[in-house]
Amino acid sequence: MKLGIELGFKVFGVDLSHNAVESTKAWLAQEFATDKFDPKRIIAGPSAMDAFKDFKFNVILAASCLDSMYFSVAMEFVAKFRKLMAPEGIFIFDVISGDETGRSRDFVGDLVVDSEIEKGTIQSYYNQKKIEDLLQSQFKIVESVLLRVEDNMMDSYSGRHFIACVPV
Ligand SMILES: C[S@@+](CC[C@H](N)C(=O)[O-])C[C@H]1O[C@@H](n2cnc3c(N)ncnc32)[C@H](O)[C@@H]1O
Repeated sequence: MKLGIELGFKVFGVDLSHNAVESTKAWLAQEFATDKFDPKRIIAGPSAMDAFKDFKFNVILAASCLDSMYFSVAMEFVAKFRKLMAPEGIFIFDVISGDETGRSRDFVGDLVVDSEIEKGTIQSYYNQKKIEDLLQSQFKIVESVLLRVEDNMMDSYSGRHFIACVPV
């Protein structure tokens, strides 16, 4: 959101978590004058997207979130994004890959996280086929890359897919 505001976009945002939304608003208020962004455009809750149902967006960015919900829920978001997308718009998102220490690269399960941080949240793993299924033929992929990060200190690795696509 910060980059979007710096680039001069009119920025909107949603998250399920009220904490996430309130801390984002507080952070942005420190960084920018209120003529640069409107806190009322950053909304929390399961139905937050409904506030924007009459809008058309040039850019939709789903940063590290479509993989924090069950695949079926992520599919509902993508269908909503398609309806909200301007014809020449671009949809950009990233999702976790099975390509991490201890898993196969094509692992595509939806897991409940057990580690201390984010305990009880959902982690939905993706390969290219699951990304295509997520898009439901409503978007065409123009770029899809898997970035694999190796941790020299921990002798481990992890991977995330970064995808740019346009409405069909
Ligand atoms: C890993 S965090 C990423 C947060 C932020 N996008 C970032 O890049 O720092 C995943 C976010 O997805 C949100 N999330 C999970 N399920 C959601 C849903 N059904 N609707 C909206 N947001 C959801 C969580 O509340 C959480 O803030």
